[in-house]
Amino acid sequence: MKRSLLSAGFLALLGFAAVRAEEPKNHDFDVVRDESKVPAYQLPPVLVSSEGDRITTPEEWTNVRRPQVMALFGNLVYGVVPVPETPVRTSYERLRTDGKFMDGLATRKDVRIRFENAKGSAEMTVLVFTPNGAKGPVPAFLQLSFVNTKDDGHDADPSRAGYLRNGLPLAEFLRNGFGLVVLSQGALVRHNEVEFQSGIHPLFYREGQSFPKANEWGVIAAVSWSASRVLDYLGTEPSIDAKRIAAVGHSKMGKATLWAVAQDRRFAMAVAAQSGCAGAALWKRDFGENMEKMVTRFPYWLCRNAWKFSRNEDDLPVDQHMLLACIAPRPIYIASGSEDLWADPRGEYLGAYHASEVYRLLGKKGLDSEASPAVGEVLAGGDVGYHNRAGGHSVELYDWQKFIEFAGRHLKAR
Ligand code: GCU
Repeated sequence: MKRSLLSAGFLALLGFAAVRAEEPKNHDFDVVRDESKVPAYQLPPVLVSSEGDRITTPEEWTNVRRPQVMALFGNLVYGVVPVPETPVRTSYERLRTDGKFMDGLATRKDVRIRFENAKGSAEMTVLVFTPNGAKGPVPAFLQLSFVNTKDDGHDADPSRAGYLRNGLPLAEFLRNGFGLVVLSQGALVRHNEVEFQSGIHPLFYREGQSFPKANEWGVIAAVSWSASRVLDYLGTEPSIDAKRIAAVGHSKMGKATLWAVAQDRRFAMAVAAQSGCAGAALWKRDFGENMEKMVTRFPYWLCRNAWKFSRNEDDLPVDQHMLLACIAPRPIYIASGSEDLWADPRGEYLGAYHASEVYRLLGKKGLDSEASPAVGEVLAGGDVGYHNRAGGHSVELYDWQKFIEFAGRHLKAR
């Protein structure tokens, strides 16, 4: 799959940097949607070090290979968070407590997390829902959400009793003994930011800097960073056990979830639904959305170094199975939608399957078959869970129930 860097797509990309990408109405692009058109590709071996040495022990993985893989993802794909010139101070403020939320099922707390240094300030509001009557601190899901938390609350539609406006079946979490924490992606960085003059980035600029460097954090990495800051806060929240937090996200937020959990080992588990390109799906299959589509439509979701791999995924020294592997030995659940070809269900399965090599090295149970399971079949008996639900790009009650069951097995049994 040799392609010219000077393709029309790449030139278009260079001219694109200054303008805001418009989201097309549909995803009927000229991308591969037919399995027989997937190019021949070779995955970078997850268990061979950059020096060419075979990795055969958990210690070699943890001390040698994993740091190499994380540095590659940081510098070439998502971008690293720079060290700010002046430390960022963080403060928490409880804005509201409602002890009788959802007919008394839950206590809801709205918490403002504020970041500040000499360069400026930014803030996010996080919603914390905990089941009333719990005997002690509960495990919880941290949802990276598209919905602005300021607008969240009960779903107004009576047929959606038990749901939040952001689509989450809150009652289902509570009934199963889980808390739920919600952060909104747009709080610290805009959905398709191209200027980086507001939000969290300016607090981290060095003298004279006004834009992230080529290897510095883009939009997704900033959302991932915010998830870790919420985890810091949860360490101070007595109703929640911060050691039993499953981060969960759909689509773009699935991508942000995986990068957050890979980087921050305090997260106990990751759930990524239809995370697709830059999520669980393999780049080198070039199926559905690919690097060119991603970086032309959303130029800074990743870091600028990722642009080099537009129409040139073969040169990328990592693929997404290696990111999932960096989450091991912690449990991970990947969910696809059978009609969501843009996110490449087969590529998402293969990402999880190839990551399983590392789970096995660490004494955990991964996915054993290279063949994808049938649509609707649930693989949740081990530490790498997967299902491909019939249907398209959404998270349904069915999906949430599978995530909650899987988390129940891993986070409740302790
Ligand atoms: C677009 C984008 C995907 C992303 C999705 C979403 O379709 O191309 O990469 O996952 O938006 O976040 O819903």
